[in-house]
Amino acid sequence: MSNTSQSRTPPRGPGGPGHGGPGGMFAASGRPKRTKETVLRILSYMGEFKGRLLLVGLLLVVSTLTTLVRTYSLKPLINNHIVPFIGSRDPDLSGLTRILLGLSVVYLIDVAAIYATNRIMLQVSNQTLHRIRCELFEKMERLPIRYFDTHSHGELMSLYSNDINTLRNLLSQGLIGFFSSGMVIVGVFFAMLSLNPLLTVLMLAMVLLMSKSVTWLSGHGRAGYRAQQKALGQVNGYIEELLEGQKVVKVFCYEQRAKEQFDQLNEQLRQAAVKANTFSGMLMPVTGSLSYINYAIIAIASSVMAIFGMVDLGTVAAFLQYSRAFSQPITQIAMQFATVLSALAGAERIFAAMDEPPEQDEGEVSLVTVRRGEGGRLQQTDRRTGLWAWRIPGAEGGEELREVRGDVVFKDVVFGYVPDKVVLNGISLYAKPGQKIALVGATGAGKTTITNLLNRFYDLPDGRILYDGIDINRIRKPDLRRSLSMVLQDTRLFTGSVMDNIRYGRLDASDQEVVEAAGLANADGFVQYLPEGYDTLLTADGGNLSQGQRQLLAIARAAVADPPVLVLDEATSSIDTRTEALIERGMDSLMAGRTTFVIAHRLSTVRNANAIIVLEQGEIIERGDHDELIAARGKYYQLYTGMFELE
Ligand SMILES: Nc1ncnc2c1ncn2[C@@H]1O[C@H](COP(=O)(O)OP(=O)(O)O)[C@@H](O)[C@H]1O
Ligand SMILES: [Mg+2]
Repeated sequence: MSNTSQSRTPPRGPGGPGHGGPGGMFAASGRPKRTKETVLRILSYMGEFKGRLLLVGLLLVVSTLTTLVRTYSLKPLINNHIVPFIGSRDPDLSGLTRILLGLSVVYLIDVAAIYATNRIMLQVSNQTLHRIRCELFEKMERLPIRYFDTHSHGELMSLYSNDINTLRNLLSQGLIGFFSSGMVIVGVFFAMLSLNPLLTVLMLAMVLLMSKSVTWLSGHGRAGYRAQQKALGQVNGYIEELLEGQKVVKVFCYEQRAKEQFDQLNEQLRQAAVKANTFSGMLMPVTGSLSYINYAIIAIASSVMAIFGMVDLGTVAAFLQYSRAFSQPITQIAMQFATVLSALAGAERIFAAMDEPPEQDEGEVSLVTVRRGEGGRLQQTDRRTGLWAWRIPGAEGGEELREVRGDVVFKDVVFGYVPDKVVLNGISLYAKPGQKIALVGATGAGKTTITNLLNRFYDLPDGRILYDGIDINRIRKPDLRRSLSMVLQDTRLFTGSVMDNIRYGRLDASDQEVVEAAGLANADGFVQYLPEGYDTLLTADGGNLSQGQRQLLAIARAAVADPPVLVLDEATSSIDTRTEALIERGMDSLMAGRTTFVIAHRLSTVRNANAIIVLEQGEIIERGDHDELIAARGKYYQLYTGMFELE
């Protein structure tokens, strides 16, 4: 394989780059401070539903009150309507019936309140999640390329699937559970206090013990849940990567290794999940048994008090019922803790991604369409004239319109993707408007990196790049990129028709313009033979096309954009020589009048360039036109003759 730049990176092992190493966005930290912030932030998202949440609050109060009333009515029921009639032959049941009827109404109200609460919360939670998803996606589109270099796709996908899902559980059920439990606890406390303060104190002591154990256990669970969500993301990342690279896996019989690596990640997930759930799993039984013990103690104590005449029977019955109502929400909260903890861990990850610094753009120079007025002066216009200008704000509020000509200068550019590895070492080059500049050199020499800097995928620490005399850092990124059309080395097509995919280059292009661009790129030949021509649907990333056909579409996409500067990074590397020769003429007319940077694998295609720049390990070692470089008998000569023999 001579063209290794096309090959995929081998599947990464666990813990490799892209799995969010320590200190990365998914770093685990046990600080409970973050938990509080996360909760507040989730609540702030629900702020826009104030009205509905207020209603939910009211409904919760109603349903709490019904619980209290139901239980409290036991006291008069027993004391006034049962105890007096024990042993009586002619009991008066009318009072009893009245109370029972009233109780059924109270029950009905309770059921209605619970139903309404759930309905409202369903809407609120789904709308909240909808908004979070939107914001997350918008944010991702604004993140710099660098971010995606270090986070695997699967991990990021996991934010949208797992983490959002756990959050859904929290919002639709957990949150309400907490509030209603809280209200019941407070309400029941006061009801018990009014029944019998002594028993209440006894009860409180037991509850204190219960809540202590809940906090202790959940505190241990919290770090575990964070680890669990992280491990889940890693497993997803690995699956996604291997699925995408299925062919490579099969070609190199990597299945066994892939399975082993997956098992390792899967095992990590299992351990994290077991650890996380061990503590939360203990919550239920522990609080459950404590509440039974509590019930028994209260029962014994109150019976003893009743025997000594310190309380009446109705109070004992009501109090015992309250003691259940009191410990039940505590058990419930304990049960919900698992959901809440993993939801908070998920939310933390989502918010961490949202808080990543976005791609900086301090550009002030913008790109506008212009037309030539009287005396050749440029005037801004909304029409498409094919003439572009940079609008440069001046120092004193004025502005200058400078025609976009495609004059590009690199001055002593030094760059590395990672701090201690220099990829470009003092690159200086220039392209006069309309020139065709070829970059050649071995794989890894830094050719693609030069184009990455030109469209500001990465920021330049050292040196300058001037575009029509303007430092590209001053140009707004979208405008800079609009003025450059790139055929990237890595061809990407999207789900949609052929027409849509070409139109990606310029969204307002007419069908006619798209077809013309395809003609220029010589793509219309094969498109005609597709089942439905330009309306043929491409599957994700054009899986139903050959690599060469994809490249032709990518060239057509660049052609339809009709920009002043064109960058072709190995644009024809997968196209056969005969087709390439056919496109060449189209390409020449595409390049005419534009500054073009061509990176080509086959040196025969760059022969007619105005300047050929030979790169080696990030440095320019030769430059000149074809004849000069051949005459010099240097690296280019070697490459050229070498390639010649190869083909
Ligand atoms: N996203 C990246 N992160 C880190 N290093 C990179 C990245 N892209 C390229 N490199 C490194 O930069 C060097 C130049 O790469 P590149 O410009 O793509 O070479 P080519 O001349 O083949 O286009 C290579 O050594 C490569 O390992
Ligand atoms: Mg490259």
